[in-house]
Amino acid sequence: MKKSKIIDAMMETARDLGLSPIKIKGIDSLNLIKLIPPHTAEPICRAITSSLPEWFGQSEANERYAKGVSERISFAAFDHEEPVGLLTLEFQYPENGNIYWLGVKKSHHHQGVGAGLMEAAQKYCIQKQCQFITVETLSEKNLDAAYLKTYEFYKKHGFQPLFEMPTYGPECLMVYMLKKLSL
Ligand SMILES: CC(C)(COP(=O)(O)OP(=O)(O)OC[C@H]1O[C@@H](n2cnc3c(N)ncnc32)[C@H](O)[C@@H]1OP(=O)(O)O)[C@@H](O)C(=O)NCCC(=O)NCCS
Repeated sequence: MKKSKIIDAMMETARDLGLSPIKIKGIDSLNLIKLIPPHTAEPICRAITSSLPEWFGQSEANERYAKGVSERISFAAFDHEEPVGLLTLEFQYPENGNIYWLGVKKSHHHQGVGAGLMEAAQKYCIQKQCQFITVETLSEKNLDAAYLKTYEFYKKHGFQPLFEMPTYGPECLMVYMLKKLSL
């Protein structure tokens, strides 16, 4: 498929995907989550990253992810015109959608934005006939208060821990989580 066609296809809105509205205070919340053109994901990723120093404190990794999101498939959540959340998917194998990057601006935590992005991502993966959705995150064994919340968020959304690896060095135990999607 031509690049422009792929981008057109990615411009569907949450409503097209049959998503239920997500709740962000003070907004009617229709069409708040959108598949976005890949090149627009990079500045959104950078803005969200800078609001989350407890999670994203490594500038080299942040730089890699900011570039990486622009080559993958991203959903953004908007509060009026302001992008407040981003979830980026990659499809290295057709059966699986992997969450490459996820973040919600600190100012918008605990308002259902993360849940809305997760719902959008899962619907998209199901449309692509994926059987699974996966994610890599910091293991709860690292006892990092910020990432414990992240781990609980994934568990609450049905992800099961599968195995751990010190992928980025001995101090940094990562956990690999999977959720089976119901087609
Ligand atoms: C993980 C993350 C994406 C979750 O985003 P979020 O928008 O806060 O998620 P939600 O609002 O959907 O859910 C979080 C909590 O808010 C609660 N909540 C949801 N809507 C709510 C509302 N309208 N009012 C009050 N609470 C609400 C949820 O029930 C949940 O509660 P719990 O933590 O007690 O289970 C966010 O914390 C984040 O950006 N973390 C930093 C980056 C990160 O960890 N990225 C992933 C790296 S692998």
